[in-house]
Amino acid sequence: MTAYPYEVHEYDVVVVGAGGSGLRATLGMAEQGLKTACVTKVFPTRSHTVAAQGGIAASLSNMGPDHWQWHMYDTVKGSDWLGDTDAMEYLAREAPKAVYELEHYGVPFSRTEEGKIYQRPFGGHTTEFGEGPPVQRTCAAADRTGHAILHTLYGQSLKHNAEFYIEYFALDLIITDGACTGVVAWKLDDGTIHVFNAKMVVLATGGYGRAYFSATSAHTCTGDGGGMAARAGLPLQDMEFVQFHPTGIYGSGCLITEGARGEGGYLTNSEGERFMERYAPTYKDLASRDVVSRCITIEIREGRGVGEHKDHMHLNLSHIPPATLHERLPGISESARIFAGVDITKEPIPILPTVHYNMGGIPTNYWGEVLNPTKGSPDAVFPGLMAVGEAGCASVHGANRLGSNSLIDLVVFGRAAAIRAGQEVDRAAAVPATNKAEVERALSRFDALRNASGSVPTAELRLEMQKTMQADAAVFRTDKTLAEGVEKMTKVAAKMDDIRVTDRSLIWNSDLMETLELTNLMPNALATIVGAEARKESRGAHAHEDYPNRDDKGWRKHSLAYVTGNKVKLAYRPVHLDPLTTEAEGGIDPKKIAPKARVY
Ligand code: FUM
Repeated sequence: MTAYPYEVHEYDVVVVGAGGSGLRATLGMAEQGLKTACVTKVFPTRSHTVAAQGGIAASLSNMGPDHWQWHMYDTVKGSDWLGDTDAMEYLAREAPKAVYELEHYGVPFSRTEEGKIYQRPFGGHTTEFGEGPPVQRTCAAADRTGHAILHTLYGQSLKHNAEFYIEYFALDLIITDGACTGVVAWKLDDGTIHVFNAKMVVLATGGYGRAYFSATSAHTCTGDGGGMAARAGLPLQDMEFVQFHPTGIYGSGCLITEGARGEGGYLTNSEGERFMERYAPTYKDLASRDVVSRCITIEIREGRGVGEHKDHMHLNLSHIPPATLHERLPGISESARIFAGVDITKEPIPILPTVHYNMGGIPTNYWGEVLNPTKGSPDAVFPGLMAVGEAGCASVHGANRLGSNSLIDLVVFGRAAAIRAGQEVDRAAAVPATNKAEVERALSRFDALRNASGSVPTAELRLEMQKTMQADAAVFRTDKTLAEGVEKMTKVAAKMDDIRVTDRSLIWNSDLMETLELTNLMPNALATIVGAEARKESRGAHAHEDYPNRDDKGWRKHSLAYVTGNKVKLAYRPVHLDPLTTEAEGGIDPKKIAPKARVY
């Protein structure tokens, strides 16, 4: 028995994570009168959503004609036909409603002359089912859209009496008779342990960008939800699909929004050529992200990179009037100055594709309910558990996410989870009792890590993992790099058993906290490389040089990775091919979204 006393809390719903999806779920639950707690390891407005710049996609038609079906088509094509069709329809249909709700909650969107929400073009967003010109679909609050959304949702959640547990680190899920009944957490500032019993737990813990060496993600993006789910025996879905954003600042990886290209910016190589015109004659710099990242990588490989080492590209904005840059892109003007020493009104920004987003995550249906697929029942729901945002995989992004479809995913599915919980959670029922054996299991693991006295410091092992992932699960992959990556990552993960924690204190112990985070990063990283090694095709962000084509017959299916220690077992589940509604009911013509070659 461990000797940690703990405080018990009881709620209808506990949301873990306070980014865009966590706060939207928290607000939606609290609005319906569900007793709701939000447990978060950072102050809510410091969650990584705060760094989202360019905007949130919704077919509002404020700047020209648009339609939810065009948005759905672009999302299907962007996903390279791996997304679940019902979820993608739900996203595109609900997006306008979700954005107007944000407006009414108080998000300070930029405005058109007429006072409507300002929308800008983003990559892969088109008109007329990909036959027309680019569309202005991305609703923006300058280039600080995530910041604006996060502050608004936090204020609204407080207004509706949601209770926040800030700087509490979630250790593990509590599983009772095949259902989730709560979560155990460590309070970072005083070292106390807290057990949250709940009728529904929502994982909204974000992505695992920090499994890589260079990422636009905050250092807090450590895949904590995926780690907890994997330890509970649940699968992680489509983890091989990792998005590289085309324009991270060379050297620091800091994000330069795609909105910069939306406002007229363009990429050039060492010959001053606008090379995207060659690769994507129609949409050029506004092709989908995976496409642009690959083109940059090819240009560099073929010797047309810029700089002393010819290892990056230029993003040009100096032709845009300074007043427009000031009004529409104030944040990146500052980032470029601080992180690249560049005045964007005069010089190009040095950029390089940088890890930005995880398409994979904990599998869910479009209500956010976590799936626990079995052979005969690929859509079976795991009771008491939901996952939303980047932690989850609904799956609307499939093999590649379109820019600005992330923020809309957060609010549409955060909201959907609240709607579903409002129907499913029995307000009159008792909150599940404390499962003492499960709490003890979580605390034994915590105690073992706190007292870990092996030979490998956490920072050293984390770096080894990050360098391996960066080298072997990159923009382009081959059988050789992936096989080497699997071998290396299996050895790296085995070293968790020899980890060394030097600080034994319970209060503000960053050594222990980073070790716990590493135990979450590791299963995410392993699932990624093993899933990538197994997938013998190219699709979206998974560009396999030995299998350069998409193979719908063999591989139009979701991967499921079950991770135990340093071992991964793979299974697959079918993609949902049917839309939510038929054409007769106002839905999309299925012929419009049938698989075809993906060109921009
Ligand atoms: O480029 C950006 O502003 C990022 C947006 C996104 O990832 O959706």
